[in-house]
Amino acid sequence: MPLKTLSLNKGQRQIFDEGEGNPLLFVHGFPLDHRMWRGQLEEFSREYRVIAPDLCGFGGSDSVPEDAVLTMKQFSDELAEILLALGLDLPVHLIGLSMGGYILGQFQKDHAMRIASLTLCDTKSTADTEEAKENRFKTARVVLEAGSKLLADTMGTKLFAPDTPEAVLEEMRTMVADASPAGIAAASRGMAEREPFTDRLETFRVPTLVIAGEHDTISPPAEMREMANQIPQSEFVEIADAGHMSPLENPQDFNAALRAFLRRVELG
Ligand code: MLT
Repeated sequence: MPLKTLSLNKGQRQIFDEGEGNPLLFVHGFPLDHRMWRGQLEEFSREYRVIAPDLCGFGGSDSVPEDAVLTMKQFSDELAEILLALGLDLPVHLIGLSMGGYILGQFQKDHAMRIASLTLCDTKSTADTEEAKENRFKTARVVLEAGSKLLADTMGTKLFAPDTPEAVLEEMRTMVADASPAGIAAASRGMAEREPFTDRLETFRVPTLVIAGEHDTISPPAEMREMANQIPQSEFVEIADAGHMSPLENPQDFNAALRAFLRRVELG
């Protein structure tokens, strides 16, 4: 079974771990878990060792107290601890979506030596506006009172391109409903206080792929292209027929872009 449980300093984490070869570490978005990469996990594990954790508070991993704050730094340090626990001390290819991208921005600051390449999907390097911060705290309160399922039912279609099949929406609702209310609240508070990393983009020293879904309204392609322009060794790819969840919505084009990028990086 590719799912295993790791004991870390701060509790148990469920991770997907399969395949052999150079490691790829996939970091999920909010409030999801490793299943959002289902179009990538098996496919890339034919060529690479694929690792995809459920971050603290999400999927099958331990949760936190209701008043906790899970900062991007805590998540980033958790990734470093997972790599250590798996005995991986060489640089790895990191792929993160949205909140996963915020975490990789922090990882680049604190653990740059562990990075072989970065793939930043449907994400941004800016901090929250005051209004967005207020909404995070509101989300935390509402989910703690009413449960994760309410968020699952109200996140609606803003994450997706028009005409996304109902089965894909249902997959997303299941993942959100499976996240613990305390984990959702803690990550919401943590995202509200995250630091921007726009000023550091020009210091990124590894090959970086920036991917945006054509219809992403949360991290629009124009903003992501601008982000790529600021990273020295970057490439930008727009995925057709996809919104904020490009790897789930159009895995075929997403995988082709990622595979081609990884091959170029590995050929040096
Ligand atoms: C995500 O997909 O991780 C979220 O859209 C991140 C956010 O709420 O900023």
